[in-house]
Amino acid sequence: MSVAATRALELGFEILACASTGNLANSVAAHAARLGIECCVFIPDNLEAGKRLGSAIFRPTVLAIAGTYDDVNRLCTQVADRYGWGFVNINLRSYYAEGAKTYGFEIAEQLGWRYPQHLVAPVAGGTLLPRIVRGLRELRQVGLVEGELPRVYAAQAAGCAPVVRALEAGLDHPEPVRPSTIAKSIAIGNPADGHQVIEAVKSTGGSGAAVSDVQIVNAIQLLAQTEGIFTEPAGGTTLAATIDLVERGLIPRDESIVVCVTGNGYKTTEVLTDHVAPPITLSRSFKDFEAWWASREVERSRDVVLS
Ligand SMILES: Cc1ncc(COP(=O)(O)O)c(C=O)c1O
Repeated sequence: MSVAATRALELGFEILACASTGNLANSVAAHAARLGIECCVFIPDNLEAGKRLGSAIFRPTVLAIAGTYDDVNRLCTQVADRYGWGFVNINLRSYYAEGAKTYGFEIAEQLGWRYPQHLVAPVAGGTLLPRIVRGLRELRQVGLVEGELPRVYAAQAAGCAPVVRALEAGLDHPEPVRPSTIAKSIAIGNPADGHQVIEAVKSTGGSGAAVSDVQIVNAIQLLAQTEGIFTEPAGGTTLAATIDLVERGLIPRDESIVVCVTGNGYKTTEVLTDHVAPPITLSRSFKDFEAWWASREVERSRDVVLS
């Protein structure tokens, strides 16, 4: 976003805009606020409250469109054409895509300037994954990293998996689908850069995995409970896909794996409403606390006996 927004200013755009599944809109709105440029973000009208608020706080114009992301994107293409606004992922897309390479740079840097053996990334419109690969490749070209590129795998929700299905069917271009999944951030049925994802995945010897909404929620909980990281369904998708690839023997358990966890769970709390325990409510008296603690101890010892 920094690259695209900077270039938008240089090119003299007066309005910064985007078509978004929510997260990009948050970032576009924040950058526009900092740059003091007018902003208009277009989103599907079914997005989670946290993502809507994450844009609105920066005071852009938020247009919630009745339709899927693919409908939003088509409308934005028409607006960009007719009104000449700077859409970061349409008429500024090349800069936005180059900016995404930094994800690849940071992975190598954080691993101490080396490649992992495997890398799993989520796919929505298809910007990120091929640019991670490009970023990793460029580091080798300039001599900062040596060795084999990682095998790269595409992660999608089963309810919106055009790229994974194309990889499985041996197609070079994905067939568009109508999304139906809790992973709204990556619910893009007609990915703009789908063929680039397929090319990048194939060039590294990787593959793809599509996972159900139940697997996604389980993976969100697993990551939180084992790593202390709270991700949204896009991150859950990527971890669940990694588990699936390991279970299918496509990724060996004992090799190094980077799992790209790209989104924050606080924006999409709705998906976990029925999955987390409510707090224990107590009065403020110490006696009540002691009674509760004693009953818990009894329960625990009963559990030990039973097991
Ligand atoms: C949380 C999250 N992760 C990953 C992506 C991947 O996007 P893309 O394939 O469009 O680069 C997105 C896109 O909106 C997203 O919101």
